[in-house]
Amino acid sequence: MGILEDKDNARLFYRYFSRVYDTINPYIWDDRMRNQALEWFDADRDDRVLDVGAGTGFATEGLLNHVDEVYALDQSRGQFEQAFRKFGKHGKVRFHMGDAERLPFKDDSFDKLWSSGSIEYWPDPVAALREFRRVVKPGGTVLVVGPDYPKIRVFQKLADAIMLFYDAEEGEEMFREAGFEGTRHFIQQRHRGAPRAITSVATVPESDGPSDDPGVETDRDADSDATDD
Ligand SMILES: C[S@@+](CC[C@H](N)C(=O)[O-])C[C@H]1O[C@@H](n2cnc3c(N)ncnc32)[C@H](O)[C@@H]1O
Repeated sequence: MGILEDKDNARLFYRYFSRVYDTINPYIWDDRMRNQALEWFDADRDDRVLDVGAGTGFATEGLLNHVDEVYALDQSRGQFEQAFRKFGKHGKVRFHMGDAERLPFKDDSFDKLWSSGSIEYWPDPVAALREFRRVVKPGGTVLVVGPDYPKIRVFQKLADAIMLFYDAEEGEEMFREAGFEGTRHFIQQRHRGAPRAITSVATVPESDGPSDDPGVETDRDADSDATDD
């Protein structure tokens, strides 16, 4: 397990990295890649969408070109401070401090769930994917962007020491273990030689059935549940 696949380490890392995140991020994950992923996500304007590991809001901003409102969840206060500057604290983005593996939302709360660049930090990604299946309505879409496993051995060793990197086969296994079938995996790359991203698009199985008590919990927002920093 990589050093950043530990929630405390990841939180500490982002406490400082949040200050430069928006400057460095475009070299790895840029507008073109995000917009291509948004096409696969295929959201309707009135869809209720959750962005997990929303961070400074790079993907949230793209999502807002397609939907009226986005629920954003992250475990880093530092990252959210940057996002507050872009969107305000109480606007089209509803901020929730929280953990991807233990989402503070009721069953079937969302039509679609997006998560870009965050899975690599989660110690138990399958637990998080199960949570995604729980909070998204049957028939809804789950899209996850993560880092593709490098092909070169020396980079593999480095990657393994830092965080989760996975190929389509491992991605498929994680999604299947979490109860998804027929997940599609796409490889994206900013330019030749740059790190590759793997984008997985899954549908929540219809058989999960609706819960008795749908609806988004709003009692754990960024103001009331800011636990770190
Ligand atoms: C690389 S940033 C991605 C930000 C944004 N989604 C984007 O596309 O640019 C990863 C984010 O995942 C968050 N994160 C890491 N582990 C998390 C966890 N267990 N629960 C919630 N957020 C987490 C980090 O705090 C960070 O903001």
